[in-house]
Amino acid sequence: MITAPAPTGIELRPLTIPASLDAPDAADFLAMVDVRNRIYREISGHGDEAITAAELLPHYLPDEYELRFSWLVLHDGILVGRVGVDVPLHPGSRVAFWLVELLEAAQGQGIGSTAYELVEQTAREHGRTILQSWAEHRATDGPELAAPTGFGSIPHDRAARFYLRHGHTLEQIERNSAFELQGSFDEVDRLLATAEEASSDYRIVQWSPPTPAEYIDGYAWMKSRMNTDAPAAAMEFDEELWDAARVSRHDALYTDGGRLLLVTAAQHIESGELCAFNELVVGRDRTEASHQEDTLVLKEHRGHRLGTLVKCAGLLTWRALVPQSPRVLTYNAEENRPMLDINEAIGFVPIAYNGAWKKVLDA
Ligand SMILES: CC(C)(COP(=O)(O)OP(=O)(O)OC[C@H]1O[C@@H](n2cnc3c(N)ncnc32)[C@H](O)[C@@H]1OP(=O)(O)O)[C@@H](O)C(=O)NCCC(=O)NCCS
Repeated sequence: MITAPAPTGIELRPLTIPASLDAPDAADFLAMVDVRNRIYREISGHGDEAITAAELLPHYLPDEYELRFSWLVLHDGILVGRVGVDVPLHPGSRVAFWLVELLEAAQGQGIGSTAYELVEQTAREHGRTILQSWAEHRATDGPELAAPTGFGSIPHDRAARFYLRHGHTLEQIERNSAFELQGSFDEVDRLLATAEEASSDYRIVQWSPPTPAEYIDGYAWMKSRMNTDAPAAAMEFDEELWDAARVSRHDALYTDGGRLLLVTAAQHIESGELCAFNELVVGRDRTEASHQEDTLVLKEHRGHRLGTLVKCAGLLTWRALVPQSPRVLTYNAEENRPMLDINEAIGFVPIAYNGAWKKVLDA
């Protein structure tokens, strides 16, 4: 247990969300994005997680699906980190998602624990009893903590000590992998050809936002299945209801910040139903790393190589759309063998592991 007195000189300042980056009150938001990017670079050792303020702002503007609470952490007047608590507004939701992120120089002094008090307080104020959070745990040679899923482990590092000290348990390991877009696509071509043979009842359709009218319902249904059909171990997610308005809001999160999103879907030819999809995204600067976001094959359409189909078709179009992006990063549950098999066959290589942590508060 911590016995040292709480550190002094800490200010937890509620983050002002400006209407635009030109607004007179935008300075704190710009500073938050800057400290976020510096922290992620320190943790990962690379800049592929960086995002610009223009790209991030749409995610912080008021939203009917989620409340976002954010604070800047200042130590003796200097910005050293940030705190965030996201409260989904799904009826009956019990969950809240949180982060406390500090620059290395500010760690190990009790600042994180002081900031964490805001997390539980905010969750309780909104009637949330399930706290969940993710962190990258940098590879070391020291002792490891194994996930209860039986798949993967993370170092027993400072972040792990922090979660454990504050009553969280490790629930799942997420693998972060990268695929080099400038390298050979021979395997992608080969895998796509085999997948096409196994899925002759389906065809590929692709679009970038705004989602074409004919795909809105099918895309909305597939997005709603992400929280129910992807392996979540003991992490808890609300079943999300997606309709045309939510798809439109989702599209705007990308287009308003100047990011490019490509959705690649498999459509059942006879029924017209969308059955599988994959999303690739890159920032306004198309020479930066790309990110793979959601990928899903609806349960009733599994076994036709649709996962391989949408991933490979997506990557091939992506290479033509953003020829200067160096690589694609993706995140998968370490127990999600079918998805990892596809990624490994394509040529994705593990670069980091994240822990998924959870705490259930007394009601
Ligand atoms: C994880 C993280 C938030 C912890 O913040 P922190 O300020 O280092 O953690 P604490 O407030 O619990 O500080 C405790 C540490 O400071 C030491 N300490 C020194 N003075 C202290 C004091 N007055 N009070 C409490 N702890 C003190 C403790 O011994 C302990 O050391 P340890 O980390 O080696 O076990 C921080 O390391 C971080 O930002 N990491 C990167 C992002 C991340 O992984 N976030 C995870 C949550 S989303």
